[in-house]
Amino acid sequence: MSGRVEGKVVLVTGAARGMGRSHAVRLAEEGADLILVDICAPVDNVPYPMSAKEDLEETAAQVRALGRRVNAAVLDVRDGAQLAEFTAASASELGGLDAAVANAGVLTSGTWDTTTGDDWRAVLDINLIGVWNTCVAAIPHLLERGGGSLVNISSAAGIKGNPLTTPYTASKHGVVGLSKSLANELALNSIRVNTVHPTGVVTGMSAPAMHELIAGERQDLGPIYQNAMPVPVIDAVDVSNAVLYLVSDESRYVTGTELTVDAGVTIR
Ligand SMILES: NC(=O)c1ccc[n+]([C@@H]2O[C@H](COP(=O)([O-])OP(=O)(O)OC[C@H]3O[C@@H](n4cnc5c(N)ncnc54)[C@H](O)[C@@H]3O)[C@@H](O)[C@H]2O)c1
Repeated sequence: MSGRVEGKVVLVTGAARGMGRSHAVRLAEEGADLILVDICAPVDNVPYPMSAKEDLEETAAQVRALGRRVNAAVLDVRDGAQLAEFTAASASELGGLDAAVANAGVLTSGTWDTTTGDDWRAVLDINLIGVWNTCVAAIPHLLERGGGSLVNISSAAGIKGNPLTTPYTASKHGVVGLSKSLANELALNSIRVNTVHPTGVVTGMSAPAMHELIAGERQDLGPIYQNAMPVPVIDAVDVSNAVLYLVSDESRYVTGTELTVDAGVTIR
């Protein structure tokens, strides 16, 4: 039986663990070949560990086990030139590129008076310029194909004013503006650009300062993070199914949308 993205080649950033791994595996299950990148190293100013090289190798192994081809590299999405170079080399090896999922992201948290300029720069550099670099690395190959799909991972924080994570919230709103702007510019070329907005998923990403504040002196802010549906968090695969839809031709006339997968947190 043919898969929903059979024969497509898809770039996924931040693919070593968490939702990036889930997107890669779900796309491979439906017949895609994958180009995978991840920094696999700590990021300054981010208070939790990033993935390791072994994690990226594990994602690649899971894709291969599904009978799909994979090219993986340890690479920082802040380095646009390196990302473009690896994407081009991989596209040429795998027979082109059909879509990119800009998934790599980081999170800092804390009150306004503990948030530093370096926090801002770390988060915007990865969550916003890193997404831009991913789009720019992919676009020449999508043009060559005569069309394609850019899926940029935002967050419920890209729609709501999520507090105690100001740089993150701003970066995820920025992903929406970036994506809608590009969607207009590239519609003529049949390149679709959409954002995905998940609610909380248990991954390696964490916000210790925010959790401490919400459990303690800022309990008033807790309800902003509460899903409308009766689940505290959703599964990574719930988000991957939305990514799969946007990569597939089932969404061939869907562009410039904000696809929420959020158990209703953004309607609260
Ligand atoms: N977990 C959640 O609750 C949640 C909710 C909404 C949106 N998101 C978004 O989903 C995406 C995936 O997050 P996750 O929860 O799987 O987090 P995660 O921390 O488990 O995974 C993120 C991956 O990105 C990699 N990465 C970080 N900086 C990088 C860089 N500069 N270059 C390349 N790779 C880099 C990390 O090494 C890690 O493997 C992020 O964009 C995140 O903001 C997460």
